[in-house]
Amino acid sequence: MITLAHVSKTFPGPNPVRALDDVSLHVEAGEIYGVVGTSGAGKSTLIRTVNGLERPDSGTVTVNGRDMRALHGEALRVARHDIGMIFQQFNLLSSKTALANVELALITSGFTGDREREAMNMLDRVGLADRAHQYPAQLSGGQKQRVGIARALASKPSVLLSDEATSALDPETTHQILSLLKELNEELNLTVLLITHEMEVVKTICHSAALMRKGNIVEQGKLVDVLAVHGSVLGNELFPLGPLPRSRGNTIIEVTFAGVATNEPFIAQLVRDHDIDASLLGAAIENIGDMQIGRTRLELPGPVELHQHALADLRSKGLIVDVISNREGNDG
Ligand SMILES: Nc1ncnc2c1ncn2[C@@H]1O[C@H](COP(=O)(O)OP(=O)(O)OP(=O)(O)O)[C@@H](O)[C@H]1O
Ligand SMILES: [Mg+2]
Repeated sequence: MITLAHVSKTFPGPNPVRALDDVSLHVEAGEIYGVVGTSGAGKSTLIRTVNGLERPDSGTVTVNGRDMRALHGEALRVARHDIGMIFQQFNLLSSKTALANVELALITSGFTGDREREAMNMLDRVGLADRAHQYPAQLSGGQKQRVGIARALASKPSVLLSDEATSALDPETTHQILSLLKELNEELNLTVLLITHEMEVVKTICHSAALMRKGNIVEQGKLVDVLAVHGSVLGNELFPLGPLPRSRGNTIIEVTFAGVATNEPFIAQLVRDHDIDASLLGAAIENIGDMQIGRTRLELPGPVELHQHALADLRSKGLIVDVISNREGNDG
């Protein structure tokens, strides 16, 4: 649905900034994709290349089959109807009611039917019909963002871009807005590309994520795959297991799982089938969609050589097993 291939962008000036440095990224249709990274990493620049607000110096940006970089004028305007965007500061017109803000978006998108009714439907969909005639100043942050979402969806886009849309909201309101985005994603098969600095947002609704640093994407993929990469920064931030304990001469393993395998009580099997007294040192588990994914850290008595058979057994069940340390004291 969205593909960036070798996209680079430098902002010129006395001290030129290479905001995007050979960035490639692919967002599948119907996916919720999160981009995280420190301030100045290039996240907003990246998202702005997707709707053509920013033109890359090189590389291609394809959205729903359209080459955004090749589009200009009217063609670009039309292509943008397929791409909604929401912002941290909501960007509503303060002189217009919630309803009028959404109606304005309908006008811009060339909607020809009963505008007021359509705008009302959109507000109803985001749970704000009863506030239709209020001005932004009379709405809470969460309510303003609901108007922002209704407005972004006015042109019936297939893609929604979100630049820190929940960053100005408290945790409870953030949760409600994320639930709404998730519903819209499922109901409308809306593809969502969102920027956030909150790992919680990624965990709650994203299927895939990318980590940006200094204009580069340093890690990316489906959460389950990212998690499975030993030493993954994203994996560690999403599913932190805390610092390793001091070596007690035992084997420490980390077991990563996604989906199917979690239905099997693998810790119990270690104990029962292999007669290993495994103790649990840490666990980080989340439900993402209808899939449980996560990581556990276990301590098995004695050196790793004693446990090869058991570890092979776990791996044969589709679990990813990393040996973190063993009797020799290497700490992985
Ligand atoms: N229009 C511009 N002109 C010059 N430099 C810019 C411009 N826009 C962004 N930059 C620079 O490009 C780099 C990336 O900026 P960008 O806004 O994409 O970062 P970000 O990851 O979104 O950061 P934040 O988390 O703070 O929003 C920064 O060093 C920024 O100062
Ligand atoms: Mg930004």
